[in-house]
Amino acid sequence: MAPRLCPPRRPSAWLLRGLLAGLGGLALVSLLVGGTGEELLSWSLAPFLGGGGGFLHADPPLPGSDSFLLPNVDGCEPRAPFLLVLVASAPGHIAQRQAVRASWGGIRWAGGYPVRTFFALGAPGSSEEQARLEEESQRHGDLVQGRFADTYANLTLKTMMLLGWAAAHCPGTAFVVKVDDDVFLNLPALTRHLGALPSPRRLYLGRIHWRVQPNRDPGNRHHVPASAYPAGAFPPYCSGTAYVLSSDAVLGVLGAAPHVPPVPLEDVYVGLCARWSGLTPTHTARMAGSTHYPMDPCCYGEVLYSVHQVGPQAMGEAWAMVGGEGRACTPLHRGLGVLRCKVLALLEGL
Ligand SMILES: *[C@@H]1O[C@H](CO)[C@@H](O)[C@H](O)[C@H]1NC(C)=O
Repeated sequence: MAPRLCPPRRPSAWLLRGLLAGLGGLALVSLLVGGTGEELLSWSLAPFLGGGGGFLHADPPLPGSDSFLLPNVDGCEPRAPFLLVLVASAPGHIAQRQAVRASWGGIRWAGGYPVRTFFALGAPGSSEEQARLEEESQRHGDLVQGRFADTYANLTLKTMMLLGWAAAHCPGTAFVVKVDDDVFLNLPALTRHLGALPSPRRLYLGRIHWRVQPNRDPGNRHHVPASAYPAGAFPPYCSGTAYVLSSDAVLGVLGAAPHVPPVPLEDVYVGLCARWSGLTPTHTARMAGSTHYPMDPCCYGEVLYSVHQVGPQAMGEAWAMVGGEGRACTPLHRGLGVLRCKVLALLEGL
C-alpha cells in the first residue's frame, strides 16, 4: 500500500481561510480605493483642526438688491425648499442649463423633500447677451445674476453671492448644495441621505481635498500669491464640483468672509471660511471628484450623489438611471457600492 504523502486536511478549514483572506483583501481595497478610509479620517478631524471664531457670526451682513443684476428676490416663494441647489453657470452655458432643467434640476420633490434649483451667473460681455439672459430669466424664473464680470477669477465672488442670496431669500432652507453646471446630481439619493442625518445638522459635506499646496506660478489660473496665503498647504476643503452646507454653515461661511484672505479658488475659499468659523468638512466618497465614472445604471442610479463632467448630451441619459425602483442594482452591486463604481472607472481608464 502506498504511503499517504499529504496529511489529510479538512477542506472546510481551507475554505474558511480563503474566505477570510478574500474579505480582508476586500476591506483593504475598499479602505484604499472606495474612500472608506477618507471618510473615517474626516470624522476624526474636528479635534485637530480647531477653528478661528467658532461661529461668532450667526448674523452676517447679507447682500442688498444692488449687488444683483437679476436679484430674483421671490424666487424661493411660496416656500423654502429642504434642499436648495445652486448651480454655478456662465452666461453662454445655455445648453448646460437646459440639460439640467430637463433632468434633475426640473424636479420640485426628491426623496420625499421639496427641492429647488437656481443658476448663478455674473455679467456677460455684451448687452445683447444680457437681454437674452433677462428673457431666459422671465421664462424660467431660476436665474440669479450678480453685478460682477463673469470670469474664472470671479468664481469666489459668484459663490459668495449665491450663499448670500440663499441666506437672504431662502432662509427656511435646511441645506444648500453648490454644484457646477457640468455635474450630474442624484437629488433623490442626496436628499434621502441628508434627511436621515441627526439634527442639529451643522454640515459641510463633499469630496475632501486633503493637502493641496497653493500654486505659486503666476501664469497658472490657480495661482495663489504668497501674499494672499503664505502657508504651504490649504486646510482640508470640499471639492468645488459639489458640496453641501447646512443653513447654519452658510451663515458661518458668510460671517467668516471678511476675515479670510481673498483666494480666487472658490472651493478653497469656502474651505478657509469654514475653517475660520469652526466648521469641519465631512468626506463622502459618493460625491464628484475628478474621477470620470462610466454610465452604469447602479452607480448613477443609486450609489453616487454627484458625478462631474457630465455634458448636456449625457445628462438626460444619466438622469434616466435614477428611480428605476431598485432594479438598477443587484444586491451584490449595491453591497460593493462606491468600490465597484471606482473599479469600473479604473478599468475604463486602462
Ligand atoms: C470681477 O468683477 C469685477 C466687477 O465687475 C470686475 O471689476 C473685475 O475685473 C472682475 N475680476 C476679474 C479678475 O475678472
